[in-house]
Amino acid sequence: MGRRVKLKLGSRIAYVDLVHEVAEDLARDAHFSKSDALNIGLAVREAVINAIKHGNAMDETKSVEIEFEENEKSFRVRVRDQGPGFDWEQTADPREERNMFRSSGRGIFFMKHFVDRVAFLRRRGRGTEVILEKRLQPAGRQGRGGAMKRRKG
Ligand SMILES: Nc1ncnc2c1ncn2[C@@H]1O[C@H](COP(=O)(O)OP(=O)(O)OP(=O)(O)O)[C@@H](O)[C@H]1O
Ligand SMILES: [Mg+2]
Repeated sequence: MGRRVKLKLGSRIAYVDLVHEVAEDLARDAHFSKSDALNIGLAVREAVINAIKHGNAMDETKSVEIEFEENEKSFRVRVRDQGPGFDWEQTADPREERNMFRSSGRGIFFMKHFVDRVAFLRRRGRGTEVILEKRLQPAGRQGRGGAMKRRKG
């Protein structure tokens, strides 16, 4: 059984940097490459901003819970808010031409690129939970940007 770290914060944008840093540090501790850890940090950042902004509507009395869970195979982060929930099947694709010049609507799209799995759960009357999961490559077989990056020639 790996490590588990849990944070509970009021809905303040000022806390986003702190969570971002914790996520990146824990990912590094879990032996992810620097670039993977960076991506995990960014995915968690987007999820936390959404939880504060869209979920809890910036209401500082509502909390956001972030749970980091690591085992030998993967790193999993759960971000929970106390908001009304939303229809995640209906979110716009930022690559579509009509959305190309919108300055928002990219967070979920980025999350899906930064980690291996993004899932949403509706917690009946208790908000939304976003699950972000990244698989840990066995040592010495790191993927893109990893320590054992393959060289040509
Ligand atoms: N936790 C949440 N609770 C309620 N609605 C959410 C939540 N997360 C996302 N949404 C909804 O999904 C939409 C898409 O989220 P996404 O992060 O992709 O874009 P954005 O937050 O609008 O803009 P950006 O992240 O690019 O600044 C949001 O505009 C919001 O309507
Ligand atoms: Mg967003």
